[in-house]
Amino acid sequence: MKKTILIGVSGGIAAYKAVEIANQLKKDGYNVEVIMTKAAQEFVTPLTFKTMSHNPVVTDMFDPVREWDTKHIDMAKAADVFVIVPATANVIGKIANGIADDMLTTTVMAARSPVLIFPAMNTFMYENPIVQENIEKLKRHGYHVYDTASGELACGDIGKGKLMNWEAVVKEIERKLEE
Ligand SMILES: Cc1cc2nc3c(=O)[nH]c(=O)nc-3n(C[C@H](O)[C@H](O)[C@H](O)COP(=O)(O)O)c2cc1C
Repeated sequence: MKKTILIGVSGGIAAYKAVEIANQLKKDGYNVEVIMTKAAQEFVTPLTFKTMSHNPVVTDMFDPVREWDTKHIDMAKAADVFVIVPATANVIGKIANGIADDMLTTTVMAARSPVLIFPAMNTFMYENPIVQENIEKLKRHGYHVYDTASGELACGDIGKGKLMNWEAVVKEIERKLEE
């Protein structure tokens, strides 16, 4: 049976790279499901992910047309791996503090599969001690939080905080599924 990769996309400029990731994973034969935060939809449309994943994209906790009323639990159960890419400072902070106020963070809360978190943000945000503390807390609780790359960021700053190369993200997800 096809393995299911659940991708949570939050609202960072690197959201467009998650499109490549979803596309590659689908091509590699996985069932790809996508949840987007409201902010993520400012960067990329749900239609883009729907086209790449061949699945409806979940954007709303209270969508009346969904067939199940506990979709977040069903999605969490169905996932062989849950990947958050890109992970904003906000979403990292929310998960680390037990906040579940949208579809992505509520589903993460119910996840039993490995959760892989790929942060992407401005260097100053990334180096903020609160963000670092949240990352450490998530790691202590068994979440797999990956390092960022260094380089020129979308805002023009140079430093840490860039999303890991997207091909490396795909490799890591597929490696995790083999464990
Ligand atoms: C142009 C632009 C780019 C942004 N890029 C990032 C980013 O790369 N990382 C990040 O943590 N926040 C970024 N933000 C801020 C987030 O969109 C904001 O914190 C939002 O509340 C995140 O919501 P979410 O975590 O629910 O997706 C950006 C905002 C704007 C306007």
